[in-house]
Amino acid sequence: MRSYVDAFSPYWHPVAFSHELTGAPLAAHLLETDLVLWRTGTGVAVTHRRCSHRGADLSLGRVTPDGLRCGFHGWTYGVDGRCVRVPSQPGAPIPAGARVSAFRATERYGLIWVCLAPEAAAPLPEWPELEDGSMATVPLPLLDWNVSAGRMIEVVLDVAHLSWVHEGTFGNPEQQEVPPYEVERRPTGVGARIVYPALAPAMDDMPPRVDRTTLTYDVTFPFAAKLAFKPTLFYVHTVYAIASPLSEEKMRCFYFASYHPRLRNHFPDMFVKSELAILEQDRRVLEGVRPRAHPLDFAGEVHTPADRLPIEYRRGIIALRLGRPVDGPAPE
Ligand code: FES
Ligand code: FE
Repeated sequence: MRSYVDAFSPYWHPVAFSHELTGAPLAAHLLETDLVLWRTGTGVAVTHRRCSHRGADLSLGRVTPDGLRCGFHGWTYGVDGRCVRVPSQPGAPIPAGARVSAFRATERYGLIWVCLAPEAAAPLPEWPELEDGSMATVPLPLLDWNVSAGRMIEVVLDVAHLSWVHEGTFGNPEQQEVPPYEVERRPTGVGARIVYPALAPAMDDMPPRVDRTTLTYDVTFPFAAKLAFKPTLFYVHTVYAIASPLSEEKMRCFYFASYHPRLRNHFPDMFVKSELAILEQDRRVLEGVRPRAHPLDFAGEVHTPADRLPIEYRRGIIALRLGRPVDGPAPE
C-alpha cells in the first residue's frame, strides 16, 4: 500500500491564504515537506525550503528579479528550483547539484494550492458561487490541530454530533435522533442534505430560538468540505473547510464562509466569533480521538445508519489511499 504522503501528494492542497503571501517569501508545510513560496511576475513559485548549499531556510531569504535569494550566501533559485547565481564563484559554472525541488502552485478562492506530484489526480473543487461576485467571504484564523485531515472532514460531515458537541452554540439537545437521510456518492466526493432544528441560545433580550435549518453537505475528495446553512427566515451562509494534511496525524484547516453581501455590516464579526466557539467544541473532542490517523478500515469502530455520511466519505478516502475507484465496492 502507498504511504500516506505518496497517496495524497497527487492532489491540490491549500498551503496559505493568498493575502498572507506578499513581497517576502513565506514558509509552508505540506505532507511532511517544508516548502517556501514566493510571488513571481506571473504567479506563485514553490520549492523545497532548504537551500542546497548549506541547508539554510530559504523563507528567510529575499525575492529578487532573478528568483529567490538565500540569506546565507546569496545563492539564487529560479521558479524551476535551479540555482542561477553563486555569488562567491561568479565566473565558474553553477554546480550540478545546486538546485531545490520545485512544485506546482495555483491560486483560487483566496487560497494558494500546491500539488507535490508532477500531475494532479483531480482538479480543484468547483465553487462557482465564489467567483461570480454574488457572495462575499470572510476567513477564520488558521486552524492548526493535532487531527488527521480525514478525521477533520468526518467531523464536518457528522450529523449525530451536532446535538451533543455543539450544545450552547447551535446544537439542540432535544433533537437526539438522526432521521434517515440519503447520501449521494460521486466519483469526486459525497453529498447529503438534512434539516436540523438548530437552537440559537438566548442573547441579550432574545429568548432561545429554534430554527429548522437546512444543512447541505458537499465534499470534494480528498479534504475539501462545503456546508451550507439555510435558516428558514434568513440568508444562506456557507462554510468551506479545507483540511491541508501536514502529516498523517496533523492538519492545518483553511476555513472561511461565504455570505450575502447585504450582511456585510454584521455577518463577518458575528460569524468569526460564533464559528470559533463552535470549532473549539469540535477541536476538544477531535484531538482526543484515537487512533489519530484516519483509519483505513471500519474494524475498530461501531457505526450506525446515522453515521452514513462520514462512512461514505471514509470509503472514498480508503479507495484513494488504496488506489481503487472511489465508487467501487465497500472495503472489508
Ligand atoms: Fe544558502 Fe549558502 S546556505 S546560499
Ligand atoms: Fe462540529
